[in-house]
Amino acid sequence: MSSATLSMARPITLLQPARLEIGAGAIGRLGLWASAYKRIFIVAMAPTVGFAASIGLAGEIVTYTDIPPEPDLPAVEAVLASARAFKPDLVIGLGGGSVMDVAKLVAVLWDSEQSVLDVVGVDRVGGRRTALAQVPTTSGTGSEAGIRSLVTNPATQAKLAIESRFMLADIAVLDPELTYSVPPAVTAATGVDALAHCVEAFTNIKAHPLIDGYATLGIELVGRYLRRTVADGSDTEARAGMMLASYYGGVCLGPVNTAGGHALAYPLGTRLKLPHGLANAIIFPHVLAFNAPVQRDKTATIMAALGLASATDEAAARAESLTFCARLGIDMSLAHHGARAEDIGLFAEDAFAIKRLILNNPREFTLADIETIYRTAL
Ligand SMILES: NC(=O)c1ccc[n+]([C@@H]2O[C@H](COP(=O)([O-])OP(=O)(O)OC[C@H]3O[C@@H](n4cnc5c(N)ncnc54)[C@H](O)[C@@H]3O)[C@@H](O)[C@H]2O)c1
Ligand SMILES: [Fe+2]
Repeated sequence: MSSATLSMARPITLLQPARLEIGAGAIGRLGLWASAYKRIFIVAMAPTVGFAASIGLAGEIVTYTDIPPEPDLPAVEAVLASARAFKPDLVIGLGGGSVMDVAKLVAVLWDSEQSVLDVVGVDRVGGRRTALAQVPTTSGTGSEAGIRSLVTNPATQAKLAIESRFMLADIAVLDPELTYSVPPAVTAATGVDALAHCVEAFTNIKAHPLIDGYATLGIELVGRYLRRTVADGSDTEARAGMMLASYYGGVCLGPVNTAGGHALAYPLGTRLKLPHGLANAIIFPHVLAFNAPVQRDKTATIMAALGLASATDEAAARAESLTFCARLGIDMSLAHHGARAEDIGLFAEDAFAIKRLILNNPREFTLADIETIYRTAL
C-alpha cells in the first residue's frame, strides 16, 4: 500500500464547535444565543474585557479579567475559585489563547471533584454541564476550534496539556473587529503561530487528506493577509482572513497536531519566557527547512502559498522563510531574546523529550540536529 493510500485510509476523529458565527460584528449575535442562560461567567483580560458590552448579554454576569498571558496552575485555581462562588450556567472565553484555554477548564472543572492535575492528558475529564462559548481576540492559537488546553506547571516550568471532547465550545464567534487593537508585534508572532499549526500538520507523519485541505487553506490565507494585518491593524478583510487561518490551524491541531516546530518552541517559552507565538515564529523557518528534503512537494506548496520562491532545498527554504518572518518585523535572533550559547544543550534536551510532538516530525531528529537548529537561530 502506498503511503498516500495509508493516509487516506487512516481513521481520524474531527470535532468542531456545533455553531460558528463568523464575520465583522459577529459578536453581536452571541447575545441572542446566550439569552437561554441566566448566570454568565466571562473570562477575559484587560485588553479584551471592553468587548463584553458588545455581546448584548442579559442575566447575571461576573467578569474575571485577571488572566496572565501563558497562564499557570495558580492562575487557573484563582479563576476556578471565583467561578465556584458564582455557579455559572454559561462560561464565555473572551480573549486570546491564554483566556480561551482557561475558559475551557473553568467550564469543565468548576462544579467537578476533579482538579486540573487530575485531568492532564487525554480524555481524563469526567464531563461538563455548563455551556461554553469562545470568542477569540487574537488570530493565532485557534483554541476556539479545539479540545486542548495548555497550562504551565510552576513546579517544572513545563506546559501541561489537557485534551477532552468536553472542552469543545458549543459556539465560537470569529469577529475580526475584535483583533483591530492587537499590536503589530503580537499580530505578527501569533500569525506565524497559526501558520505553524497548518504547516506542521500538513507535513506531519500523521497528515490526513481532510486536514491537508484545512491546512493549505490556512497557509494561503496567511500568505495573502498576514503582512497586511501587520501594516494596517484595522484592515477588516485581512483581519478576517487571519482569523479564519487561525481557526483552520486549530482544526489541524485536533486530529493531527503539530510536530518538531512546536517541540523546539516550547523550551523557549518555559526557559526564556517568550510568548507562545514569538517562540514558534523564531523556530518556524528552521524546522520548515529541516523537513524540506523529505517533504519536497508539500514544501513547494507551502512556499508558493506564502508567495516565496519555490525553494525546497534546506538552505534556500530557510533563507526565504526567515525573510518572510523578518519582514513582518519579528526579531528572529534567539540571542536578542536572551538566549545564550551555553543554554542550547538544555533547550535541546527539553525539546527532544517532548516525544508526543517530536515523533510526529516527518524527518527524524537527533539531539545534535536540534542543537544545530538552536545554534543557527541564535
Ligand atoms: N489550545 C490550543 O490548542 C493552543 C494552541 C496554541 C497555543 N495555546 C496557548 O495559548 C496561549 C497563547 O495565546 P495567544 O498567542 O493568543 O496570546 P495571549 O492570549 O497570551 O495574548 C497575547 C497578548 O495580547 C493581548 N491581547 C489579546 N487580545 C487582544 C486584543 N484584541 N487587543 C489588544 N491586546 C490583546 C493579551 O492581553 C496578551 O497580553 C499560550 O498559553 C499557549 O500555550 C493553546
Ligand atoms: Fe501554537
